[in-house]
Amino acid sequence: MTTLDTIVRGGKIVSATEVYEADIGIKDGVVAAIGRDLGPCEKIVDATGLLVLPGGVDTHVHLEQTGLGPEMCDTWESGTASAAAGGTTTVVCFAWQSKGGSLAAITADYHIKARQARVDYSFHLTVTDPTSEVLDVELPRLIAEGCRSVKVFMTYDGVRLDDRQALRVLAAARRNEALVCVHAENHDLIAWLTEQLVSADLTTPKFHAYAKPMIAEREAVYRIISLAEALDVPIQIFHVSGAQSAEEIARAQARGLKVWGETCVHYLTLTADDLDRPGFEGAKFIFGPPARTKADQEALWGYLKRGVIEVVSSDHSPTRFDDPKGKKFAGDPAPFNKVPNGIPGLAARLPVLFTEGVSKGRIDLPTFVRLTSTNPAKLFGLFPQKGSLAVGSDADFILWDAEKSVILTNELMHHGGDYTPYEGYRTRGYPVATYLRGKAIFDGRTVTGPAGGGRFIARPPYPMSAPLERFPTPFNAVDGHLV
Ligand code: URP
Ligand code: ZN
Ligand code: ZN
Repeated sequence: MTTLDTIVRGGKIVSATEVYEADIGIKDGVVAAIGRDLGPCEKIVDATGLLVLPGGVDTHVHLEQTGLGPEMCDTWESGTASAAAGGTTTVVCFAWQSKGGSLAAITADYHIKARQARVDYSFHLTVTDPTSEVLDVELPRLIAEGCRSVKVFMTYDGVRLDDRQALRVLAAARRNEALVCVHAENHDLIAWLTEQLVSADLTTPKFHAYAKPMIAEREAVYRIISLAEALDVPIQIFHVSGAQSAEEIARAQARGLKVWGETCVHYLTLTADDLDRPGFEGAKFIFGPPARTKADQEALWGYLKRGVIEVVSSDHSPTRFDDPKGKKFAGDPAPFNKVPNGIPGLAARLPVLFTEGVSKGRIDLPTFVRLTSTNPAKLFGLFPQKGSLAVGSDADFILWDAEKSVILTNELMHHGGDYTPYEGYRTRGYPVATYLRGKAIFDGRTVTGPAGGGRFIARPPYPMSAPLERFPTPFNAVDGHLV
């Protein structure tokens, strides 16, 4: 019998489908046994009275992206400290092409930066300039090397693609079997509304939500679903903010399409009213798409329970608030359309979702695990290495106290930012320790995982990245032949 390195004893394991009492035996960073009486072992982790959850998998995290004007305040080192402090053991971040630049060069550089990671990681490839070189030469190689997801924007000057460009990226993704993730908002509607608001001198943070209404999101969600359906490409809609976009996803799923949806903790907890806080405080809540209404929050919970939206990410995209390189980049105050979009959220994701979801009785424990770990791991080809505590999976886990009440502060986020949108929020449920491949990386107070302790996870083709082989006409337009 193999000698185990560690036994996690006495806890309740939560999987994607059940909650059960068992011990976990770990050998060489991998789960080697699950059961009782796993034998003697020098190292025992006492999990009595605690839940044992698979480590969080956050598939929407922006770290150390450069060349954007405002400065992102988390490096790989600080951002992954924040991940560890919140129970997240795997992040998927963005190798982000700059206009006119090489995606391959940025990805190579991102690999170097990511060597400072404290948790495991993989990359999405953000395409902002779909040249032939990028689509025909760089993408095939980068996807083959394991970056098996491509990100496109339908809005934001300098990064957005028009429909024709989006089609070219979708086609390249299908040829190379990659999932496409989309920031879906109608650019021209937003640009026009912004012009109108600015002309009317309506520029405080609350007007960010007026410039980016739900209809701008819903239309773009429907449009990108249609383009993906025409080319038979699996897609995930990022940061679904409310009922109308989720409805479009539900309709696509009812047609049997490979369309998935992600929402984020902020859409379940914040509303557009947060943009209207006194002075320039509302800028702390500027992100896109904006937070909506309480009714949208309730609708999103319903879509989460029904499995229409299967992933809850952080969209951690932090800039400092009181900083001319951050939210005050264009002045203090600045008009809403000049304030950088994005908020921090890595460390708060699991505690806030647990409190709002499990502790308030909206979702059960296995649903929590599916939304935060198993589903994102499956959707992005990390499963079963990640997202599961089964024999053969990486021994990434959280010891979770389901009753622990903590008042969130910026300090507890362990990130590079100077604020959290959840300052003063009281949790019921909190991680008391985080383990990556069998080693403690957070002890409930301090991040102990070393910079450089994380590993890149290459993602080969997997079931969810495969197309359906279903076109609207008997013509495979991507490969140019009749089917
Ligand atoms: O406001 C946001 N979400 N900023 C981050 C970049 C993105 O759109 O995902
Ligand atoms: Zn986005
Ligand atoms: Zn994002």
